Amino acid sequence: MTITSQGSSQGLNQIGNKISELRDRIAHHQYRYYVLDAPEISDAEFDSLFRELRILEEQNPELSDPNSPTVRVGGAVADRFQKVQHQVPVLSLANAFGEEDLHRWRDRLLSLLPEDEQARLAYVVEPKFDGLTVVLQFDDGQFTLGATRGDGETGENITPNLRTVHQLPLQIPVTEANGRSGMQPPERLIVRGEVYVEESDFLSFNREQAEKGERTYANPRNFAAGSLRLLDSGISAGRPLKLWTYQIFLEEGLDQSPPSHWDSLKHLRAFGFPVCDESRRFDDSEWEELVGFVSSWHELRERLPYDLDGMVVKVDLLAHQEQLGFTGKDPRWAVAFKSGGEEATTKLLDIGVKVGRTGAVTPNAVLEPVSIGGVTVQAATLHNVDYIEELDIRIGDTVLVKRAGDVIPKVVRPIKDLRNGTERPWNMPANCPSCLEPLERPPEEVATYCVNNACPDQLVRKVEYFVSRGAMDIVGMGSKQAELFVDTGYVKTLADIYRLPWVELEEIEGYGEKRIGNLQLAVEDSKSRGATRLLTALGIRFVGNVVAELVMSQFDSIHELMEADLESLSEIEGVGPKIAEALVSYFRLKPNKLLVQSLADLGVSLADPDRKQEPVAQAQPFSGKTFVITGTLPTLSRAEAKARIEAWGGKVTGSVSAKTDFLLAGEKAGSKLKKANQLGVPILAEQDLLQAANSEE
Ligand code: IVH
Repeated sequence: MTITSQGSSQGLNQIGNKISELRDRIAHHQYRYYVLDAPEISDAEFDSLFRELRILEEQNPELSDPNSPTVRVGGAVADRFQKVQHQVPVLSLANAFGEEDLHRWRDRLLSLLPEDEQARLAYVVEPKFDGLTVVLQFDDGQFTLGATRGDGETGENITPNLRTVHQLPLQIPVTEANGRSGMQPPERLIVRGEVYVEESDFLSFNREQAEKGERTYANPRNFAAGSLRLLDSGISAGRPLKLWTYQIFLEEGLDQSPPSHWDSLKHLRAFGFPVCDESRRFDDSEWEELVGFVSSWHELRERLPYDLDGMVVKVDLLAHQEQLGFTGKDPRWAVAFKSGGEEATTKLLDIGVKVGRTGAVTPNAVLEPVSIGGVTVQAATLHNVDYIEELDIRIGDTVLVKRAGDVIPKVVRPIKDLRNGTERPWNMPANCPSCLEPLERPPEEVATYCVNNACPDQLVRKVEYFVSRGAMDIVGMGSKQAELFVDTGYVKTLADIYRLPWVELEEIEGYGEKRIGNLQLAVEDSKSRGATRLLTALGIRFVGNVVAELVMSQFDSIHELMEADLESLSEIEGVGPKIAEALVSYFRLKPNKLLVQSLADLGVSLADPDRKQEPVAQAQPFSGKTFVITGTLPTLSRAEAKARIEAWGGKVTGSVSAKTDFLLAGEKAGSKLKKANQLGVPILAEQDLLQAANSEE
């Protein structure tokens, strides 16, 4: 059929009817083709209907309609997206990692529902689509607004881009579809869904882009999200975006709304929305079956042409959903089940190097953030230079990243098919990124080392390790503090941790009296961890907790260990020549010997708590003497003074008595000073104490 003329208002009216009829027919065929995957006419027939509508609309611009099927080709170009306030908050989902979590979730539901309601408890399990959440609004059956989730309160208006997604009905109900023409649209309907891209469409798009030397995407999810947020909807229209809808947010002006989630899905289907038919409903009595279905989601994932991010389990009855309510941002009535989904592809943005505490320099991947098993990953290890060379990993590559258990994520391999020629090979830098000294690679080793003992990054790592839980366990000290104290120059060797100038720290932002006090106590407390922990904390090669324990079971203190020879160490069960060699070479070096001595001088115990402190370890000028401390001392904290007195053989008690040998008094000394005077106990100032100790040495 061809259109030749128009003119009179009657003609216009006829044309209007014709246009309207064509729109309905095309919408119907688009629905048959894109949603039901069951076309009734050939592509050629469809194309001719479409062409006819296009021509009529071009000739009669006054009859244009933002929801005509012709808008699916896009065209509107924005300079930026307008913000949209969501009428209903777009909430997220809590995760259940594994079956245990899932059982706990159900137990909680049962504990929250009244007993007479528990028998009616039922669930719907759906795939968790891995795309971009969208919120779709229909007023009197017309698609009026489409938005991204944003922060859940405010999203971005991406209506023109969404109009290009073929599964999205532009008017509901889709006329004549499935013989349900009698359905009335609600005054307002707000629906939630997910826009996604199929795996094969993603791969072929990337391949074409790579051939043209243009931008590729790291995974289908990023592709979908990126395509939907293009400012030119004409470009979005060329992208193979698809849609699933899965939740009714709001339905106004209907006599009867669906009472359950399962019915909502049917209701959405009846309007012509795309609703995935992999969902299943389970009664609570079928719980074990549900768990089996959910746990085998990997099989479903393999079978489907698009990616899943787990499964969602939802309480079916809306009345129950309402009763269960929310915690924070998550509904109690739904949970996302994830497990074992440990791999993902993403872009390798850069390769950085990190200096470890032994000086080993390891390359690590800087990744475009990607969610793996529910955790966002943006860094991963690349092990060493050989690993990168053997796998031919290049900056800019799309890489497969794996996360297994709690292990640090690793880059498994590059996806070479996705290269577009802009990828760059990487080389280990010649100099240490921290101290700029040349790096060395011993011929028989795969690792590259910074051999500068004074390298700041190495020291930071050493401090981090020294204070960590398995070592000296200094609560309140972590990576940040290690970096801060090394950067500010307070810590130049591990012993300096026990020489921190507490008063000065108050100058540092965020370091108030209380925080410093706590840190000081934690540092003091760590002095009595004992030899095994200290030996671990020194970070000697091959000497972790277990080896340290084996070794220290044979020596009374670290002093004694330092004197041991290779032979006696090798004889210890579980130690052997390699570890023995590492210990001997460590203690042979003067700076290491000095470090141990300084630690001892500062009051760090070199023996395990249940062994006696080695008597010859240091000079004991106050051996057998009892001290009491009172008032504020000019430089030492009370804890430090106590540690010194103890290190020098003395004992510190809390109250003055006839048995007290000395009172160490500072400013604002009160009742203890009075009592000492009464009893004739000698009073020392801090300076006297330090001098007395030195003169005895
Ligand atoms: S229900 C309050 N069902 O997963 C109800 N969400 O972690 C919460 N998602 O971005 C949403 N498939 O959009 C639900 N079948 C499905 C889903 C699904 C994917 C997305 C959701 C959100 C994320 C929540």
